[in-house]
Amino acid sequence: MKIIAGNWKMNGTRADLDTMIGAISKVKTENRVILCVPFTLLRAGVENVAIGAQDISAHAKGAYTGEVSGAMLREAGAKYVIVGHSERRMYHDETNDIVRQKVQMALESGLTPIVCVGETMEEKRAGKTFDVIESMVRESLPTDVHDDIIIAYEPRWAIGAGITPTTQEIADAHKVIADTLSYMGLDGTPILYGASVNPLNVGDIVAIRNVGGVLVGGASLKPQEFVTIIESAK
Ligand code: 13P
Repeated sequence: MKIIAGNWKMNGTRADLDTMIGAISKVKTENRVILCVPFTLLRAGVENVAIGAQDISAHAKGAYTGEVSGAMLREAGAKYVIVGHSERRMYHDETNDIVRQKVQMALESGLTPIVCVGETMEEKRAGKTFDVIESMVRESLPTDVHDDIIIAYEPRWAIGAGITPTTQEIADAHKVIADTLSYMGLDGTPILYGASVNPLNVGDIVAIRNVGGVLVGGASLKPQEFVTIIESAK
């Protein structure tokens, strides 16, 4: 069983979501399929696909204009929430501290957080990849997590770029993350790979040790491609 999660980012209409759910409902798979959609598309009662959000407020309620709480996400039908995506870290200055508070809030709200970590090209060139992802994992998770969480390794330089790290680079990064999680008492936490996943490379990627599935951006918007990804990941 692999986890196949789509991240629609700021894309999609209700009609697009209907089409995608219809396409996925015809697929026979043992994989767990998750679609993380914009807040306005959250819905309950969907079979075959678990619906997730892409962000959560660090606060439970109150004067935080524009924010959406964990309880609200749950009520709207979300079971998962992406936390600390590189686009939130980049464009909204989300630090590991903020990400950790959001992860805590997700868990308290009964949502499974999909926590994203990954190095920039600058950090990669400086040989800092492993240090960066290790500290991101350590600092982005509350110390006493016992509930379900999912980690997504998304090298920032490969997101939307049409290029992926080598098999060895993915294996090495996932090993660092798995070892860090093990040190934190979180053995068995699924670690997804994300960035430029497509129907052609998904089979090789999920065959890599410590890769528990994929977090798919662009290709998760195209029913034919996303269905092929779900079917090809074994
Ligand atoms: P792409 O699959 O479009 O590279 O996006 C990856 C991503 O950011 C998923 O969260």
